[in-house]
Amino acid sequence: MKPVILAGGSGSRLWPKSRAALPKQFLSLTSEQTMLQETLARLEGTDTEHPIVICNDAHRFLVAEQLRQLNVEHGGILLEPVGRNTAPAIALAALQATRNGNDPVLLILAADHLIKKLPEFHAAIAKAEMLAQAGKLVTFGIVPDQPHTGYGYIQSGDQLDYGFTVKEFVEKPDLKTAQDYVSSGKYYWNSGMFMFKASRYLEELKKFNPEILDVCQQAIDSECKDLDFIRVDAEIFARCPDDSIDYAVMEKTQLAAVVPLDADWSDVGSWSSLWETAENKDENGNVVVGDAILEGVNNSYINSEQRLISVIGLDDVVVVETKDAVMVAHKDKVQDIKNVVTKLKTEK
Ligand code: GDD
Ligand code: MG
Repeated sequence: MKPVILAGGSGSRLWPKSRAALPKQFLSLTSEQTMLQETLARLEGTDTEHPIVICNDAHRFLVAEQLRQLNVEHGGILLEPVGRNTAPAIALAALQATRNGNDPVLLILAADHLIKKLPEFHAAIAKAEMLAQAGKLVTFGIVPDQPHTGYGYIQSGDQLDYGFTVKEFVEKPDLKTAQDYVSSGKYYWNSGMFMFKASRYLEELKKFNPEILDVCQQAIDSECKDLDFIRVDAEIFARCPDDSIDYAVMEKTQLAAVVPLDADWSDVGSWSSLWETAENKDENGNVVVGDAILEGVNNSYINSEQRLISVIGLDDVVVVETKDAVMVAHKDKVQDIKNVVTKLKTEK
């Protein structure tokens, strides 16, 4: 099994820590290690080949350095000149993995997840590998605890030897639909990790989105090597449609399967999810990183990089201070940080 680490996202909801030059997957947010390093370290003890890492060209030295620190040998660092979302990124990795006539099972991992129970994670991977070998496109299903609209939803069908068939895969439903799904008790969240044979993904992509496959094939055929990096052709790849694996393949394929995953999984997508998953809350439910003095503050997340932060008489707030920006938000509104980032890009 060959891991493919998707490390090309922008992580804009974790601004002001996560920046264009240093997106969240390259930051240490939940431990001493960066999110990318944690993703790789999590594979220790599994029977996996050297991972392929795929990221934006601008972050190549960050990736190489973070792998070097971990002493991880890689199976190629693929560079995208622009982000075209996960369907093309996975296509490039699958095309790279099938060069020389190989056809490995790929374990697709996002570089920004937190998984606390490793034995359970490793057991789910082993089950998924059996299904992937048998030709399935395997997802990992998480029992939902709220109607989150930023996730994919999976309705499981018939029992298979190592999981279930998928009756329905719906990416990012609206709130009403998500509420119906959660209260029905019949749906899992899609964890955003996948497993399949490289050739099977490419076949399904060809069926449903031939243009993505075609452009990725041309872009990788014209790649140029730069030190350790494999850089796909910029002009060709720029023509690639932007789409996620979830919409481009998983919603459409008849070959999906789901393996339930109960491993304390979370997507570190926002400051509130960091607050939720933190184990070091004080007696008032506050998480404090860095230097802060709090008076009458409850259930808040405070993160200071350089200066002392003082908060008085507020509940459910997020305050994040960096060298050049301070962000203060209600904990329920941190999804809107991406609007600030959009404004920053257009107005500043
Ligand atoms: N190389 C590369 N190139 N990586 C990318 C790109 C890209 O263009 N775009 C995103 N990624 C990486 C991100 O860094 C992240 O590690 C992963 O791919 C998933 O992308 P997100 O943008 O974070 O996806 P999402 O969270 O909206 O949705 C996905 O994950 C959810 C669970 O966290 C979907 O699979 C959902 O169905 C799922 O529920
Ligand atoms: Mg995500």
